[in-house]
Amino acid sequence: MANKQFDVIVIGGGPGGYIAAIRAAQLGFNTACIDEWKNNSGGPAPGGTCTNVGCIPSKALLQSSEHFEHAGKHFGEHGIGVSGLSLDLAKMLGRKDTVVKQNNDGILYLFKKNKVSFFHGRGSFVNAGEQGYEIKVSGSAEETLVGKHVIVATGSNPRALPGTPFDEELVLSNDGALRIPSVPKKMVLIGSGVIGLEMGSVWRRLGAEVTVLEALPTFLGAVDEQIAKEAKKAFDKQGLKIELGVKVGEIKPEGKGLSVAYTDAKGGEQKLQCDRMIVSIGRVPNTNGLNPEAVGLKLSDRGAIEVDEECRTNLPNVWAVGDVVRGPMLAHKAEEEGVAVAERIAGQHGHVNFNTIPWVIYTSPEIAWVGRTEQQLKADGVQYKAGTFPFMANGRARALGDTTGMVKFLADAKTDEILGVHIVGPMASELISEAVVAMEFRASSEDIARICHAHPSLSEATKEAALAVDKRTLNF
Ligand code: FAD
Ligand code: NAI
Repeated sequence: MANKQFDVIVIGGGPGGYIAAIRAAQLGFNTACIDEWKNNSGGPAPGGTCTNVGCIPSKALLQSSEHFEHAGKHFGEHGIGVSGLSLDLAKMLGRKDTVVKQNNDGILYLFKKNKVSFFHGRGSFVNAGEQGYEIKVSGSAEETLVGKHVIVATGSNPRALPGTPFDEELVLSNDGALRIPSVPKKMVLIGSGVIGLEMGSVWRRLGAEVTVLEALPTFLGAVDEQIAKEAKKAFDKQGLKIELGVKVGEIKPEGKGLSVAYTDAKGGEQKLQCDRMIVSIGRVPNTNGLNPEAVGLKLSDRGAIEVDEECRTNLPNVWAVGDVVRGPMLAHKAEEEGVAVAERIAGQHGHVNFNTIPWVIYTSPEIAWVGRTEQQLKADGVQYKAGTFPFMANGRARALGDTTGMVKFLADAKTDEILGVHIVGPMASELISEAVVAMEFRASSEDIARICHAHPSLSEATKEAALAVDKRTLNF
């Protein structure tokens, strides 16, 4: 049988891959997308880490657990009495699975709508021939496709602690952390990065006693110091125990759980017992089964596919995007790279502005930022002005009953161009978009300060922080 010929073959159907495939198809290319993720019945589940065991299920559980905490701890403040509050964890996890499935199905629908040919299985390079690259698909059926262009979007895997592999029963990655069948009494999380804080928050809200052990002496080192400090205060108040500057030692079975030995920041030897442990110490690029050697695709020492600024690999017409290449491991970064590559293949000028990629940590309070932090500006020797505005002074935040945190603007001392915006507080994930748009248009803080913002809204805190750069807040 003749091999199926495509203009573009995308390997991987996560946010980088499926979006690249849709954009390529929109641009008129005959496009295939190969993804190997299986749902519980062995069927296709496109969407990658993000949809299946990342962004989407974690946000579903963050939402459910926040409702539970609010009902138990905060409804009373609104004059709402709750009695007989109970937790049906199986139902909560079931809802999360439904949300995931809706997203999987949505992607399959989008493939159909955009005429992307979807192949369920593992894609691996076979060779580079005259017609293009031969890619073998190994799944329920085996076939070989040939593509003029190949976009690799094979994502990343969780990093394990040396000597302590994931068993997804006691030692959990993000996968197991999203499907624990009963709330553990005691939990230890290794790493107080994004997953540590989000998953730690979920299980603490549901009743677990959570301790997060972090190797670095500073909390959230990539976040603006003032914002990180404010967030830490809020987490301490919630009872999320975070120990900084620790060195994790031996981890061994104890009773039905685990014991975790560690050296604390002062050099003291400590031991914690827990029912389950989540290891969230970063992720590693994934090229398992891709067979890059067959065509000489170059990987870095870290195992990432080497690409230039435009996502070109060392091979002609082979591109790579998302978690499998350099840069932040974020779904929206992967998507933007996917779109830009499809457009470059079409001879257009696809572009990703790395300076305006927003970050969000979906804890309560949420933490969101774009651009440079105050410590980075100092290190870069940039003269800047700062302005902050607390949610405590925002009417909408008071009405919501959620006044933790602030908005912080950093602007160039001479030109007033916005260099960074940092938010800790309610709906920071949504508020940050205004700052991203402003920075894309190279706006000044004065521009934001002079724009009419709806009242009462949390976005007024953004306007006021912009006013604060020029020391003229109106409500504080
Ligand atoms: P992936 O999503 O990992 O997709 C890669 C796909 O390729 C997978 O389906 C995989 O099965 C498939 N694949 C791999 N090799 C092959 C092969 N050889 N053949 C066929 N298929 C293959 N980011 C955010 O921006 N916001 C968030 O809120 C957020 N929350 C997260 C929460 C958690 C718990 C985790 C773990 C991550 C989170 N992320 C979040 C990060 C986000 O999930 C990743 O940045 C994003 O999924 C990367 O997209 P990708 O397309 O590069 O790779
Ligand atoms: P991370 O890089 O965010 O944090 C890892 C943390 O573990 C760091 O603070 C690091 O210092 C610490 N660490 C490393 N080794 C350690 C050790 N041996 N002992 C103790 N601490 C150790 O990685 P995380 O949380 O695993 O998440 C992976 C990536 O997934 C994130 O970087 C992010 O790109 C993405 N993600 C994004 C989310 C979002 O956008 N809201 C949510 C979750 C994940």
